[in-house]
Amino acid sequence: MNTTISRRSVLRAGLVAAAGATFAARERRAAGSSAAPDVEIELTAAEAEAILDPAARRAAAVWRYTGRLLKGPSDSLTPQREGYLGPTFRVRPGQRVRVRFENRLPEASIVHWHGLDVPAESDGHPRYAVERGGRFVYDFTVANRPGTYWYHPHPDGRTGPQVYQGLAGLFIVSDGDDEARGLPGGAFELPLVLQDRLLDGDGALVYSPDAMFGMLGDRAFVNGRPAPTFEVRAGSYRLRVLNGSNGRIYKVAWSDGAPLKVIGTDGGLLAAPTTRPFVMLAPGERVELWADFGRAPAGDDVWLESRPFALGGASMGGGMMGGGMMGAGGLQNGTALRLCRFTVRGKGQTRPLPRAFEALRFRPADEVAGGPRVLQASMGMMRWVLNGRPFSMTEVGPNEHVRLGVTEDWELVNVGGMMGMGVPHPIHIHGGQFQVVSRSGGASAFAPGVIDGGWKDTFLVLPNERVRVRVRFATHAGLFLYHCHILEHEDMGMMRNFLVEG
Ligand code: C2O
Ligand code: CU
Ligand code: CU
Repeated sequence: MNTTISRRSVLRAGLVAAAGATFAARERRAAGSSAAPDVEIELTAAEAEAILDPAARRAAAVWRYTGRLLKGPSDSLTPQREGYLGPTFRVRPGQRVRVRFENRLPEASIVHWHGLDVPAESDGHPRYAVERGGRFVYDFTVANRPGTYWYHPHPDGRTGPQVYQGLAGLFIVSDGDDEARGLPGGAFELPLVLQDRLLDGDGALVYSPDAMFGMLGDRAFVNGRPAPTFEVRAGSYRLRVLNGSNGRIYKVAWSDGAPLKVIGTDGGLLAAPTTRPFVMLAPGERVELWADFGRAPAGDDVWLESRPFALGGASMGGGMMGGGMMGAGGLQNGTALRLCRFTVRGKGQTRPLPRAFEALRFRPADEVAGGPRVLQASMGMMRWVLNGRPFSMTEVGPNEHVRLGVTEDWELVNVGGMMGMGVPHPIHIHGGQFQVVSRSGGASAFAPGVIDGGWKDTFLVLPNERVRVRVRFATHAGLFLYHCHILEHEDMGMMRNFLVEG
């Protein structure tokens, strides 16, 4: 115990000194790479306006990332013309990326690259948050597999409201070989960022999270626009779907009852496509789908929708299902929602669904050092906590020290809350991708829609469920985070550090 405490205070002293330097310089730079970047981007977070409700007369106040490409291939950064989302990054494995972040918000912020394997100093830990006018320079080399990642703010206690105001964007890693893999690209690759929002009568955003379930809206937004319609051609598409919501879980399905063809998860393509009746997608998770539009009689529209579901806890009872309003004004998790519509216009190209992609090199069981590290998600002192304690900026518990390059199993256990009240927690671990090894105790109704066979960085843990994941932090030592990705749970302290020691 004593060694932990002294290590902790030494660490804290070092960080305080580093923070002092920040104010002097007004620009923080992640230590490490001084080599010239292949891609250099200026990213600014600022107040902006967007039309959120087409029926409202006025544009609403949002917060928005805007970007400028300073160096690199022209497709490295694509602005989003409609809606409020930030620009889409598109980079290749091995590229050195430098991002010059500037905070023009009226409060502190910092950017996190969700799912990326980057040095601790470039991971957007809340201790690096910069005030209005402050800058932070990120330097990292893209080490991830091709896949659909994303970026969003990560300041202590304010991640939920900042993402809700509009701060989020996609970060796509692509190696240029997707054509050879038989995957649709270009205009036939559609990113779909699923979010929900609550609007007032003037079409302005209302942030009023529920104490138990986080912020839940009353309508779906896709790519920063309310339940939009996408014009597509009859043919095959690749859909990169991100749940960028604060608190909403989607049971993603096609409105015409066709099964979903799943080709990828958080960390890229599966070893082979898998067909599911629906996919459960919790905040922070991604799924890649293969879609063949125009399968129905020509001209027919199809919706991507979230089907009704029950979470199983006593508090989520039947009477409220399928359209119930919450106290705060949002629709309860499990309420049916239409997400976006695809309307077929003209002919595209129908391709055969590839039979297989690259094999996934998961870590074998005999490589695991010791028994599983058991970490509980629970209710403590009227707030959600992880590993029994709320977040504290640089605190690392005795069982939160991890050795660089060592394979471990972590077991996340959702022990529920007061009076057996069950709340699902999407658990996210920073520092890269891992595999889900096993689950027990969860709801069997969800099982067909849970995709555990690919690389993951976020996974849903249902009430009374235990999920075992196999992790290995091989490249970067330092302080990283694991937390619930219901952003209001994260903000109330359902987040902890772990220290990777070389
Ligand atoms: Cu997407 Cu620590 O977050
Ligand atoms: Cu993350
Ligand atoms: Cu949670």
